[in-house]
Amino acid sequence: MYNSKIIGLGKYVPDNVVTNDDLSKIMDTNDAWITERTGIKERRWVKEGSGDTTATMGVKAAKMAIERAGISKDDIDFIVFATLSPDMYFPGPGVQVQHALGIKTVGALDVRNQCSGFIYALSVADNFIKTGMYKNILVIGSELHSHGLDKTTRGRGVSVIFGDGAGAAILTREENNKKGILSTHLHSQGEHAEELVLKAPGMGTRWVNDILADNNEDDESYFPYMNGQFVFKNAVVRFSEVIMEGLMANGLQKEAIDMLIPHQANLRIAQFIQNKFGLTNDQVFNNIQKYGNTTAASIPLALTEAWEEGKINTGDTVVLAAFGSGFTWGSAIIKW
Ligand SMILES: CC(C)(COP(=O)(O)OP(=O)(O)OC[C@H]1O[C@@H](n2cnc3c(N)ncnc32)[C@H](O)[C@@H]1OP(=O)(O)O)[C@@H](O)C(=O)NCCC(=O)NCCS
Repeated sequence: MYNSKIIGLGKYVPDNVVTNDDLSKIMDTNDAWITERTGIKERRWVKEGSGDTTATMGVKAAKMAIERAGISKDDIDFIVFATLSPDMYFPGPGVQVQHALGIKTVGALDVRNQCSGFIYALSVADNFIKTGMYKNILVIGSELHSHGLDKTTRGRGVSVIFGDGAGAAILTREENNKKGILSTHLHSQGEHAEELVLKAPGMGTRWVNDILADNNEDDESYFPYMNGQFVFKNAVVRFSEVIMEGLMANGLQKEAIDMLIPHQANLRIAQFIQNKFGLTNDQVFNNIQKYGNTTAASIPLALTEAWEEGKINTGDTVVLAAFGSGFTWGSAIIKW
């Protein structure tokens, strides 16, 4: 059995900055409400005509991660791509990355676990490496939310929160099993699937021809729905549980955490977890203020920036944790 470790990180965000004040010009909202409830000041939304898509943003983040890892694209044995906003209904963006990077015909797996997507993807990659099946795996989280949000007052409870962007990591084999990804922990609770959901188009709900036939402008089924307060209450409980689960599995106490990178759902959730675990501002990394919630991209985007800012060093215990639609949640404990 091997371990896996992260040897390269990359990110990409679209140029187009959308501030809270910009949003207040297109819907009934304001900077004070958004800042107080979520901590978000601005987000990136892909500009029409820019050519950015979920796959192309993932490719840009991947190129940076590959270069920083100091490997060649030809060393990559497998691709895992997490997103809830693929360019096409099928196939998923993993194969687009394989083609765009000109990588030989390695496998490409698409992960559909929303805000927990990157942790799930990391867990899959880690376990493929642990068993010895693959040596170098490219893991991507990328989202283009802005194209599918209801940007009117009707959708303001959701649309002000989400942003576009991508992050990527290169995982490689580590022979020392006290280093790298020590463990990952994954959970789901499908009874709450419809508390944070985009129902249509879906084969079991309403397909595109049903939507067109109804031609009903009040139809909200093809916009995301979120029961915000219910999601918030569940998130704070599950974040805490899954971080503790990860620590305990490795015989660690909360004092062992050098850096916590929570999924960037809401700054209030991150602050609640920070207080609960008695962590200082330097021990928790947040960039939701600049990017909003970028779902599967949020952890790799935050991890990349924390690393770029020199906040993660060799030997540190780094904890990643996420919660989101499904509900799904998970954590990863890493010895950097
Ligand atoms: C979404 C969230 C910020 C909303 O905050 P909240 O305090 O629960 O707010 P509510 O939904 O109860 O809405 C309060 C009021 O603000 C209004 N409102 C909603 N969005 C608004 C906006 N963007 N601007 C101004 N007012 C808004 C509502 O219409 C409501 O008005 P009313 O009282 O007249 O009916 C909060 O619930 C949250 O962060 N939840 C977790 C979300 C999350 O983490 N999601 C991702 C999980 S991965």
